[in-house]
Formats: sequence, structure tokens, C-alpha cells
Amino acid sequence: MSDAQQSTLEHATMTAIVAPRYGSSEVLRTQTVPRPVAGDGQVLVRVRAAAVCRGDLHLLTGKPYAVRLGFGLRRPKDPIIGHDLAGEVVAVGAGATGFDRGDLVFGAVDAGAFAEYVSVPAERLARVPDGLTVAEAAALPDSGLTALQGLRDVGGLRAGQKVLVNGASGGVGTAAVQIAKALGAEVTAVCSTRHVEMLRSLGADLVVDYTTTDFTSGTDRYDVLLDLVGNRSLTDYRRVLAPKGVFVSSAGSPGGDWFGPVLWVGKVVLTGLVVGQTMRPLLMRPRRADLELLAVLAAEGKLRPVIERRCPLAAAAAAVGHVAEGHAQGKTVIVV
Ligand SMILES: NC(=O)c1ccc[n+]([C@@H]2O[C@H](COP(=O)([O-])OP(=O)(O)OC[C@H]3O[C@@H](n4cnc5c(N)ncnc54)[C@H](OP(=O)(O)O)[C@@H]3O)[C@@H](O)[C@H]2O)c1
Repeated sequence: MSDAQQSTLEHATMTAIVAPRYGSSEVLRTQTVPRPVAGDGQVLVRVRAAAVCRGDLHLLTGKPYAVRLGFGLRRPKDPIIGHDLAGEVVAVGAGATGFDRGDLVFGAVDAGAFAEYVSVPAERLARVPDGLTVAEAAALPDSGLTALQGLRDVGGLRAGQKVLVNGASGGVGTAAVQIAKALGAEVTAVCSTRHVEMLRSLGADLVVDYTTTDFTSGTDRYDVLLDLVGNRSLTDYRRVLAPKGVFVSSAGSPGGDWFGPVLWVGKVVLTGLVVGQTMRPLLMRPRRADLELLAVLAAEGKLRPVIERRCPLAAAAAAVGHVAEGHAQGKTVIVV
């Protein structure tokens, strides 16, 4: 790129969804802002699709308040929200390897995906596999990585084991059911009535409708329990875990507006020190190798992102509001 072209790019603008202050989805505004450039180790991506994650809600609301220590005390210091994206590489920064201009990629950023362009660390991207649309690829990072790392790394799930996924109908849950099947496990999915058929179609061996049946009162015992809801006590969860089972906690917020899941995580860890079962919190980390594995699973037809809604960038606030209600089926994708 010539100096003149670089300068034009640096002074270019773009449309983005901006949170000028903390609040609900109603604070979100469509604004014209400076276009980012690819820094060291980064790739500039023209966003073609972005997906709404529950993590976006922390950046938007600034809750639990403890996150403001990192996000900005009075207002978000990275006001463009959005983690998950897929799009086309338009520039490659110094030291960024593995991608060329024109490549179709998908991945995750800390913030900035709800925009026409975003600069992404190359290590948080992978190529979109053949057979997957950009909307489907954008639906994969947060949910697929959380499910994969929760089941494989934290849960140590192996072929032939029994796993229960509590909260199986959302973004992470629909990915978890499919990844658990791909790992060779026997899968029980817990969801409400309207999601039962969808989860059967994704391959769940057993589906428990929580509106009629309490999964913690059954006689089945699970080798791994992936909890995406945090609505039961640790005693309840442990009751259905095998004696050497692993509880993987990805949710839970008894700490309220101030500390959110932090107190729950502490409780999970401390309980794990005194009981025979393994009790572990999950913190997903975006990694290229794991994104590439998700791409392989998707290309092989073993992982099909479930997309409930698609909408244009201008309707991002409504999309975020829908996910904030907490009853999503799979993912909501913004097509840019
Ligand atoms: N630790 C990490 O690194 C990490 C990363 C990503 C996500 N997470 C967390 O993982 C959780 C799930 O995320 P997500 O993206 O899948 O959320 P989501 O897409 O918003 O889905 C939430 C799902 O939970 C279902 N649900 C609500 N109440 C339920 C109950 N009592 N029992 C079973 N299911 C219930 C909802 O459907 P119905 O209301 O119809 O039942 C909905 O389908 C969130 O708490 C999120 O913050 C953690």
C-alpha cells in the first residue's frame, strides 16, 4: 500500500453501533466514526456479519460494576460494542501472519465488531470454511469456543461419557450439544418446551423440559455437567454428578450488580477443594487453533450454528435487546 493510500485509509470513516454511556440497548446509537487501521499483529476486517453475545451486555451495561475497572469507570472506553464477527481481510498489519487481503475470516474481539470495519489480533481469527455462510461463521466464535473449551479442556469430556448441558437452547448450549456429540459423548440437554424439538434435531440423546421435569431429581449421574444458567444450588448440581464427575460453571450471578459471577466462581472453587467431585469455573479465551477446530467441525457437518434472527446493522439495538431478555434460541446475527 502506498503512503497516499495508507493516509486515505487512516482518514476514512465508517458506520458503527456506539454505546456513548452505560445502559440498556436503548443507549445504542448508529454513528459515523473513524475507521480503524491494522496495528501490529492485527488484521483489518471489513465486517460482513456480527453476532450478539451475552458478553456484549457486560460492555453495554457496565455490570457487574467491577468490570468498569477494565471497561472504563464513567463510560465505555471502547464504545463500539460487539465481540463476534466474520468478514473479509482488507489490510494486514506488521507481524500479523496467516492471512492475505481478500481472505474470508471469522473470530472474536474484545469490542468493536458492530461496525463496518474492525481491527482484530490475527491470533483471534481463522478462515471461514467452505460450506459456511458469513452469517453462520459469525455465530460461531463465542458460543463455539465456550462450548469447546468448557467440554474438552475444563470438563475433560471423553468418548462414551455422559454429559448434561443445562441451558442447551441458547448460543453456547446449541454448540455444546453438537460438540459433545462430536466428542462421542451421550448428551442430555435441559431446555424449555419450545426448544425440545430443535435440540433433538441437533443430536441430543435425551432432552429434559425444565418446565415439567427437574433434572436434579432424576436418577441419572453425569460425568460432566456444563452449566450455562446458574439457577440451581451447588448441592443440586452435585447430586446428579458422578462421584468423580466434573461440574463446569459458565454462569451464575449471586453477586448482583456489583460483583456478578465473581462470588459464584469463588464458591465453585472453594467447594471443589472439599468434595470428591471436580468443580471448575470456565473462562473462554479466543484462540486461533480452537477457531480452526470449529471450522473443521462445521465443514464436516458436525457443528451447525443455529441462527434464530438476522437483522441489518441499523437494527443492532433491537437485536441486543432481544438477547438481553435471556430467551434466545441459538444466535442473533447482524448482517452488515
Ligand atoms: N464463562 C465464559 O467464558 C462464558 C462465555 C460465553 C457465555 N457465558 C455464559 O454462558 C451462559 C449462556 O450463554 P448463551 O450465549 O448461550 O446465552 P443465550 O444465547 O442468551 O441463551 C440463554 C438460554 O438459556 C435458556 N434458559 C433460560 N432459563 C433457563 C433454565 N432455567 N433452564 C435451562 N435453560 C434456560 C434460554 O431459553 P428459555 O428461556 O426459552 O428456556 C436461552 O435459550 C450465559 O450466562 C453467558 O454469560 C460464559
